[in-house]
Amino acid sequence: MSDNTELEAHLAEQDSFDPPASFVEQANVSDPGIYEEFEQNWPDCWERAADLLDWNEPYDQVLDDSDPPFYEWFTGGELNASANCIDRHLDERGDEVAIEWIGEPVDEANRTYTYRDLYEEVNEFAAALRELGVGEDDVVTMYMPMIPELPIAMLACARIGAPHSVVFAGFSAEALATRMESADSEYLVTCDGYYRRGDPLDHLGKANEGLDSVGHDVESVVVDRLGDDGFDHGLSDSQHDYDELVDEQAGTEVDPVSRDAEDMLFLMYTSGTTGQPKGVKHTTGGYLSWVTWTSRAVLDVKPEDTYFCPADIGWITGHSYIVYGPLALGTTTMMYEGTPDYPERDRMWEIVDEYDATQFYTAPTAIRAFMKWGAEYPERHDLSSLRLLGTVGEPINPRAWKWYYKHVGDEACPIVDTWWQTETGGMMVTGLPGVSTMKPGSAGKPLPGVDARVVNMDGDPVEGGQAGYLTVNRPWPGMLRTLYKNDERFVEEYWATYSDTDSTDSEDWVYFPEDGAKIDDDGYITVLGRVDDVVNVSGHRLGTMEIESAIVGVEGVAEAAVVGGEHDVKGEAVYAYVILEDGYDGTEEMREEIVEGVEDAIGPIARPEAVVFTPELPKTRSGKIMRRLLEDIANDEELGDTSTLRNPDVVEDIRVTVQD
Ligand code: PRX
Repeated sequence: MSDNTELEAHLAEQDSFDPPASFVEQANVSDPGIYEEFEQNWPDCWERAADLLDWNEPYDQVLDDSDPPFYEWFTGGELNASANCIDRHLDERGDEVAIEWIGEPVDEANRTYTYRDLYEEVNEFAAALRELGVGEDDVVTMYMPMIPELPIAMLACARIGAPHSVVFAGFSAEALATRMESADSEYLVTCDGYYRRGDPLDHLGKANEGLDSVGHDVESVVVDRLGDDGFDHGLSDSQHDYDELVDEQAGTEVDPVSRDAEDMLFLMYTSGTTGQPKGVKHTTGGYLSWVTWTSRAVLDVKPEDTYFCPADIGWITGHSYIVYGPLALGTTTMMYEGTPDYPERDRMWEIVDEYDATQFYTAPTAIRAFMKWGAEYPERHDLSSLRLLGTVGEPINPRAWKWYYKHVGDEACPIVDTWWQTETGGMMVTGLPGVSTMKPGSAGKPLPGVDARVVNMDGDPVEGGQAGYLTVNRPWPGMLRTLYKNDERFVEEYWATYSDTDSTDSEDWVYFPEDGAKIDDDGYITVLGRVDDVVNVSGHRLGTMEIESAIVGVEGVAEAAVVGGEHDVKGEAVYAYVILEDGYDGTEEMREEIVEGVEDAIGPIARPEAVVFTPELPKTRSGKIMRRLLEDIANDEELGDTSTLRNPDVVEDIRVTVQD
C-alpha cells in the first residue's frame, strides 16, 4: 500500500477527530467549562452575546418570558445594527477591508470596500432612501444577486430603521410579487442584471414583470451592474438609478436611528407546509447578538481574518454569516458573485489562495460537487491560510466530511457542521471548534445555553442511539419572534405540536423545527432531515405545496404530488407525479411545459428532476396522498406499508412508469 492509500484507509475507519492543537491554542473559545457555566447561569449567560455589541441604551432585562411563545430579549435596550457593523470599527479599522467582492468578468470586476468606504456609501444610500420617502418600519424589498450594493442596501435600511426583505435573485417574478404583497412593501432595490459564467443575465426584465403584478405603487432603485452589456429596459418614472441617487448625497451622513432591541431588523420569507411562504421576523437586539456570538464562538472569526462564505445573501446563511455576524466583529468578509466551476473547477481554491482566506463555510451540496470533480483542483493551490471549515444547510455524509477534512483542510482545520434554520437566526447545534471532538456526519451537541433534544411523539427524550424529532426546549436570543402579521400561524407551525398552548409558563413551551434527528450516547445529534412537506434542494428549502400549485397551474394538469428524491450532489431533487386531464397526453412537450411552469412560478432551483405521468396517486382511504410511498418510489427503495391505501395497485403502476 502506498502511504497515501494507507492514510485514506485510516481516515475511512476513523469516526471521531479531536480539534488540532494548533487551532485550540488560538481559538476564541477553548474552555470546555463554558457548557456548565452557561447552564448554571441561564438566561443571563446571553449577556455575553449582547456585550459583544454597542448599545445606545442598556437593556434592563435579559429575557422577558411572561407571554410565551412571544419571548422578548434584552428588553429596554436600544441599538442600531448598521452602527454596530460599521461605525464602531472606524477608529481602529477604518482603512481595513470590510467587504472583498469577487465579481465577474473574472479578474476585472473585483471591488474592495474598507470600513470607511462602506460607511460612506451606506450613509449616502440611507439618505437617498429617506429622500425617496422610506420611513422607520417601512419594509424595503431587495431583489439582487451577489453584488456589494446588496449588503450596502441592507445596512442602509438598518441605519434608518427600515426592515429589509431580501428575495433571492434566482426566484421568479411571481415569487417577488407574492413577497412584496405579503409584506406591503412599497420600495424595491434591484439591478439591471448580472453575469453568469461570463454571460450577462437580464434581471430587471424579471423585476419589472414582478412589479406589474404588485397591487400597490412601488418606488424602485436600480443598480447599473452591467454597464454597456445592459438590456434595453429604460427606467420608468418610479424607477431611480442607484448611482445618481448616491452621487446626489455625496458626503451626507445619517445618524443611525436608535432601535428598540425588539424592533424588526428584517423579514425573510421561507417555505413551509402550505403553499404560502412564511415571513420570518427577526429583531435588532436578539438576532444581532446571536449571529455575532456564534460567528465568534463557532466560526472563530477575528478582526484580522479574511472570512469566506460563498453562499448567497438571498438566503439566511448570507444574512447571518456573510453580512451581520462578520461585520459586527469588524473582520473582512468576502462576497463571491460567480459559480464554483467558472472559469474552472478550482475557482474556490484559487480565491482562497489569492486572498489567504482563513475560514471557508459552505453547504454539503457544494462539497459533494467538489468531491466529484476530484482532489486535483484543491491540490493546485496553497490552502494553508485556512484555519477552519464549516458546513450548513443539510446533512453531510461522513465520506464527504472526510474528503473536505483531508483535501481542503489538510487535516489541520476543524470542521463545524452547523445545524440551524431561517427561523433560528443563527447556529444552534454544532461543535465549538476549539473544544469539541468532531464526529463526521453528526452536527454535534447543542451550543452552550441551547436546550435541543431528540424526543419521541410524546415529547420524551429518546435513548442514545435512537431516532426521533428534534425540539428546542428553551428560548434563545436569535429566535424568530413571529411570522409577519400572522401570530396564529407562528404558534400553530412551531409550537403547538409539543407545547401546552394554554399555559403561560415558559417551561411548557417547546419549539419544533420540523426536523427528524437521532442522538448518540454522548449526546451528539445527527439531523436526518425535514419531517414536513419541505424538500431541501442543494441546501435550499422549497415547499412541495408551492411546487404542486405551480404544476397544477399548467393547462391540462389535473393533480400533482411533489416529493424529494435522493440526489448525489443536490442532496434532494424534486420528483413530480402528475395526473393529466382527459384529452392531454404525457408528451415531452407537456413535460417541458410543467418544468417551465415551475421555473416561472418559483425559479430554476425548484425545477423537477423527473416528471412522472400517472393515472392515479396513492391515497389513504381518507383521500390524503401518501407522499412517503412516492418518496420510496423516487429513491427506488422497498415500499413502506401500503395496507392503508385505497388504491394499492397504483403504486406498482407508478414504479413501472418510473423505471421505464
Ligand atoms: O432540515 C434542516 C436543514 O435545513 C433546514 C433549514 O433550512 P433553511 O431555513 O433554508 O436554512 C438553511 C441554512 C441554515 C433545517 O430545518 N439543515 C440545516 N443545517 C443542517 C441541516 N440538516 C442537517 N445538518 C445541518 N447542519
